[in-house]
Amino acid sequence: MGSVGAAMGTEKITSECVEVPLGERSYRVEIGNGLLSELGGRIRAAGLKQTQAFVVTNGEVGGLYFERVRAALEQVGFTRVVRHDLPGTEAGKNWEEFTGTCAALLEAFPDTGSVPLVVLLGGGVVGDLGGFAAGVFRRGVPFVQVPTTLLAAVDSSVGGKVAVNMGGVKNIFGIFNQPRLVVCDLGMLETLSAREMRSGMSEVIKYGGVCSRALFEQLEAPGGVERVLERDPGVLVDVVAQCVRLKAAVVAQDELDRKGIRNVLNFGHTVGHAIELSASYALTHGEAIAVGMIAATRLAIAVGVCGEPFLDRLHGLLERAGLPTRYPAGASLFDAVIRAMQMDKKFRDGRNVFVLPTGDGSWVQRENVPWDLVHAVVREALSE
Ligand SMILES: NC(=O)c1ccc[n+]([C@@H]2O[C@H](COP(=O)([O-])OP(=O)(O)OC[C@H]3O[C@@H](n4cnc5c(N)ncnc54)[C@H](O)[C@@H]3O)[C@@H](O)[C@H]2O)c1
Ligand SMILES: [Zn+2]
Repeated sequence: MGSVGAAMGTEKITSECVEVPLGERSYRVEIGNGLLSELGGRIRAAGLKQTQAFVVTNGEVGGLYFERVRAALEQVGFTRVVRHDLPGTEAGKNWEEFTGTCAALLEAFPDTGSVPLVVLLGGGVVGDLGGFAAGVFRRGVPFVQVPTTLLAAVDSSVGGKVAVNMGGVKNIFGIFNQPRLVVCDLGMLETLSAREMRSGMSEVIKYGGVCSRALFEQLEAPGGVERVLERDPGVLVDVVAQCVRLKAAVVAQDELDRKGIRNVLNFGHTVGHAIELSASYALTHGEAIAVGMIAATRLAIAVGVCGEPFLDRLHGLLERAGLPTRYPAGASLFDAVIRAMQMDKKFRDGRNVFVLPTGDGSWVQRENVPWDLVHAVVREALSE
């Protein structure tokens, strides 16, 4: 891990590099402003030698950045850069789009003489679906994540969980597949909507809440949340790098999610995912997770692992970030949310599993939490 200061001593740090240490699957996450034009050089520096690329993106992001990606790749000798667009919404993270992407890969690269580098240019939808397709095409071709949302920068582009949704269950078909490199040009967040910035902020607050008291306190300080949302370049690089370091440390200890350590990243996601799905994606992922973090904290208080003050602090941060803390429009969705929650991949043999904050930048996992307590916090999450 290390950081690269700007040439001028008075300038803020312009880029950071975080290593995800996974033995032979280790890779770098390069975070900064203006990195997109250097994408080709960074790909070569990572030892990737392909000369053909398959870029997965969507209409909106591709319209803004694909030509820059193509130019950056051509600069280092790529002779063919194929673009494939997905729908621009979470509803498009589905099996049909996944097989459509596989078919497009095969059509563009029909023989083994032309194994492409897959480049995932977009948010979590592009990254999750595209990383899955790259992992199963010819039993795996290398891929590079180029996250374009705050959420993808701090979370989904790192760690190798790639998947699609099906049958009302989030991420139910998927694999572990680590990227070879992540190039995160935070300059691209300039074009991201304020709502999507807030959505990414939800995952930033998640890291602070259960992985780092220092980050939580930094966000709580005057201007802490606001400067991120205003896209202050220096603050963004610092906060994104902190989150990626926290995620890299968790992933390094539990790459395949077998030791329970990785569950920390699911704070707010058990109730959050269920609301996200039941509301047919009326909420963004981050908005649903914000509601879910409040529900999980209430549960933590109910079972006695967390004090009331943390709930107030979390509430305060989420409100400053413009994130919801309940979803009143979902009052009629109670049964659907409970059903969706029971499909959670952490649950085993009917036993529920919750990631609960302890209020000091840490967490505990609790199994078999009494359902009446769970019902009460879900009812509260869906109340006026
Ligand atoms: N794999 C993981 O570990 C992991 C972790 C967290 C979340 N996720 C997944 O990530 C997904 C959510 O990702 P997301 O929040 O990035 O949403 P997203 O990929 O749907 O992107 C949100 C919207 O922003 C637009 N957009 C993206 N970048 C832009 C830019 N720079 N300028 C303008 N518009 C831009 C997109 O077109 C899209 O409409 C969910 O499916 C979630 O399950 C995965
Ligand atoms: Zn998430």
